[in-house]
Amino acid sequence: MPEKLKSNTFLVFLALNIFYGEVKSQSSQGCEALASYYIWQGSNLTFISTIFSTTINNIISYNPQITDQDLINFGTRLNVPFSCGVINELLAHQFIYQARPGSTYQRIAELYYSNLTTVEMMTRFNSYAPESIPLDALLNVTVSCSCGNRGVSRDYGLFVTYPLRPGESLSGIASDFGLPESLLQDYNPGVDFRRGSGLVFIPGRGMQTI
Ligand SMILES: *[C@@H]1O[C@H](CO)[C@@H](O)[C@H](O)[C@H]1NC(C)=O
Ligand SMILES: *[C@@H]1O[C@H](CO)[C@@H](O)[C@H](O)[C@H]1NC(C)=O
Ligand SMILES: *[C@@H]1O[C@H](CO)[C@@H](O)[C@H](O)[C@H]1NC(C)=O
Repeated sequence: MPEKLKSNTFLVFLALNIFYGEVKSQSSQGCEALASYYIWQGSNLTFISTIFSTTINNIISYNPQITDQDLINFGTRLNVPFSCGVINELLAHQFIYQARPGSTYQRIAELYYSNLTTVEMMTRFNSYAPESIPLDALLNVTVSCSCGNRGVSRDYGLFVTYPLRPGESLSGIASDFGLPESLLQDYNPGVDFRRGSGLVFIPGRGMQTI
């Protein structure tokens, strides 16, 4: 990991540590959660805050590595807070994205929302067939989340929805988040962290150990 990214990651841990105390922990209705947004070249905070229906300041409050909101580092990740609830028996949040000319489910899922959702989820939660999305349609963008698992541990309350990327591994992510590998694996049973795609859920309390 580049040195710069490393220190940013550390700052994120620090911030989560600070914010953890304020974040509501799980209840039967849902919980607070974070989305790990991979910053692609061409994205910016105005765009990201719009598609997640939040404010730039709210995002910045979870990302102290950002000192200038016009300078976000492509290729790093951003924590975007959101509320995790129940959508059709799935723990998730439904964001609304207004279709523009050229919007496809693939572009929305894999670029705009940085693989926090999938074409399959877009197809499942929207009545429009992929090839006939009306202009200006308000589309459901469903991002899965976790409120923990009492069977694993009761100590973790804030979970990060984290899309895996090629080159990542269980040991790398565990060390980035300051968590035991076994704990991370227990929260994501059967998941091969080297698979390079798909979501994992990372407990946030480990950040306090840094
Ligand atoms: C922010 O990103 C969006 C999406 O890529 C783009 O359309 C918009 O022009 C960008 N705005 C600025 C000020 O760069
Ligand atoms: C999302 O995943 C696809 C396929 O794995 C990849 O091509 C794309 O670059 C990823 N999106 C971002 C923003 O990295
Ligand atoms: C989005 O989901 C809501 C239910 O959560 C549903 O009523 C609505 O029809 C969906 N929108 C589309 C475009 O399918």
